[in-house]
Amino acid sequence: MANRGGFSSRIGFIMAAAGSAVGLGNIWKFPYEVGENGGAVFLLVYLICTVVICFPIMIGEIAIGRKAQKDAYGSYKSLGGRRWGLLGLFGILCGVMILSFYNVVAGWAFGYFLEISFGDLLNTADFKLFFGEYVGMIWDNLFFSVCFMIITAFIVVKGVSGGIERASKILMPMLFAILVGLIIYSLTLDNAMEGIKFYLLPDFSKLNLETIYSALGQAFFSLSLGMGALITYGSYIDKKQNIITSAAMISVMDVSVAFLAGLLIFPLVFSQGQAPTEGPGLVFVALPGVFNSMGPIIGKVVGGGFFLLLCFAALTSTISLLEVPVAYLVDTKKLPRKAVVWLLATLIFVVGLPSMLSQGAVDMFSSMSFYGGKSFLDFVSEVFSDISLPLGGCLMSIFIAYRWKTQSLSEEISSGNENYKGSFLEKVINLVIMYIAPILLGLIFINTVFSKFFGIEII
Ligand code: TRP
Repeated sequence: MANRGGFSSRIGFIMAAAGSAVGLGNIWKFPYEVGENGGAVFLLVYLICTVVICFPIMIGEIAIGRKAQKDAYGSYKSLGGRRWGLLGLFGILCGVMILSFYNVVAGWAFGYFLEISFGDLLNTADFKLFFGEYVGMIWDNLFFSVCFMIITAFIVVKGVSGGIERASKILMPMLFAILVGLIIYSLTLDNAMEGIKFYLLPDFSKLNLETIYSALGQAFFSLSLGMGALITYGSYIDKKQNIITSAAMISVMDVSVAFLAGLLIFPLVFSQGQAPTEGPGLVFVALPGVFNSMGPIIGKVVGGGFFLLLCFAALTSTISLLEVPVAYLVDTKKLPRKAVVWLLATLIFVVGLPSMLSQGAVDMFSSMSFYGGKSFLDFVSEVFSDISLPLGGCLMSIFIAYRWKTQSLSEEISSGNENYKGSFLEKVINLVIMYIAPILLGLIFINTVFSKFFGIEII
């Protein structure tokens, strides 16, 4: 297996996996999901989902990958037989579809970085109007998202390289520092406290089933779970690593960045008298206003810096999304890595075109009548991320519980963590994997499908 490559150190793996987890999901998606789903109560449900369901699932994924030492498809197949391999293939499909729209949004972030740093975006009179027009501009979007896909492919071609490990180790702390700096500034603004209240004081009257699905979907997406990304990364680590502590560090980093992003955005939104229910435009509309108020030079530096770091966060995520299908074709189909990367990057880019054109550029994609007038981007993101990732997690727990068996899971976790067997944690993890996750995720899946596609509320 030596020629598959691998992470050079434990911290390299943690940083790469945290890099995969921390991305647009934390800084772009999380705040607008909180905004649309009633504020603090969403945050609370999200935290519960992360600890109770997602943490054990993450451990399971890493363990499967490390045991099998293969890509998502190959891992399920070698541990469970050909039929379970289908689950791996489903995950790979989800990865392809998620990357197709993720790359479009990353393109917006890249465009904002350039337009703030080198253009005069900050002099715009109405940022909301600007964003609405911006995402509908075909040529700009094409250019920026092509660039983003090319950069992603360049890095993935190099394999599980020291470059990305080293880059993540520098960029992650920088992202943290900029976030904290901006938060301190934003807390000094008028009305900031209104934002903090919305974000931190739960209003339980806003709690409904929709909140729970969204929070769960968001937790899966943000932690890069449910489609085999961590099976793939887990296959690149050695048997001495402690999977539990690694998974804990990855989760804590991911949750902290999401939490901090909310702490930054809501004071800003409220201080500018905007509504938090803006949707996907939230970060792109609320932040430029603040950068603008910092004056022409500081605004450009801080604003440009923020969007640049957002791009880096997105980049370590697009890399992990692309690595999943690449690892499949390289490991299982024995195709050359370089050709596979460029082929997939091109294909995924093309698959992403309708999402790119769905933000006003082309009516047919922007408002789809069969999907409640929502956009193609919403459709792909809801089907392949919100619905499919928890489903993938559900099936993975069933796989561990009833095919691979929890004894094998414990065995794998024990390597690198001798005290695991017989511990309280082992019991909790097994309980979640055997009963809580499959039942809860299964119910939620069924209910979501019925309510989204047939308008029937079962629960
Ligand atoms: N977790 C990333 C984010 O929050 C996105 C991502 C990267 C992802 N790899 C993934 C999501 C795999 C689901 C599955 O932005």
